[in-house]
Amino acid sequence: MKDYLNIALPKGRLGEKVYDLFEKAGFGCPAIRSPGRKLVFESEENRVRYFWVKPSDVPIYVERGAADLGVAGKDILLEYTPDVYELLDLGLGKCRLAVAGKKGARLHGDRTLRVATKFSHVAREYYASLGRDVDLIHLNGSIELAPLLGLSDVILDIVETGTTLKENDLEVRETVAPVSARLIANKASFAFKKREADRLLSALSDQLEETK
Ligand code: PRP
Repeated sequence: MKDYLNIALPKGRLGEKVYDLFEKAGFGCPAIRSPGRKLVFESEENRVRYFWVKPSDVPIYVERGAADLGVAGKDILLEYTPDVYELLDLGLGKCRLAVAGKKGARLHGDRTLRVATKFSHVAREYYASLGRDVDLIHLNGSIELAPLLGLSDVILDIVETGTTLKENDLEVRETVAPVSARLIANKASFAFKKREADRLLSALSDQLEETK
């Protein structure tokens, strides 16, 4: 329906926190709390439809207009650079993208640095900005293993509490970018559903202001 806002939420812990914020802002959808494996929920009262989406897929749904709005981590936005509007920093899911290596290890400047990461685009841009040539190794998870097994010299990954690094005898070398969850919008939807999107945007901003 034309006046419904279709919103892609990142499945998982961050998504639950994001939904709580939307609910407090007056965009609740009680059905979403019911257990089960359903992925689409709507509230006729609040004219919203929510989808649970794999976090890294949120920008795809929004960029292609399958969702009008979505919430994605800045890490995902930096990696996939979707053509969407970034409307608001929700201040949730705060962490950082960082380069880490084995504790105390000295890196030899005369050899090409081997960097293991899930964030290949971010890594390429980051090292290009430093004018440094690197050997990028794309992995899909458990990135911390790479330097331990000698697959790479460093990793570029998400660091939240730092526990994963610590428990694997790794340490942060450089911070690449701060990360938090962002509200994003499909460009055409933001024009066609401007009134509804603006209403959500200001309700979320007010809610964030209140909890500051
Ligand atoms: C992320 C990241 C680190 C960990 C950092 O992994 O890749 O492994 O969280 O958190 P910490 O600093 O609080 O220890 P995630 O759980 O997203 O899974 P992944 O292995 O698929 O990257």
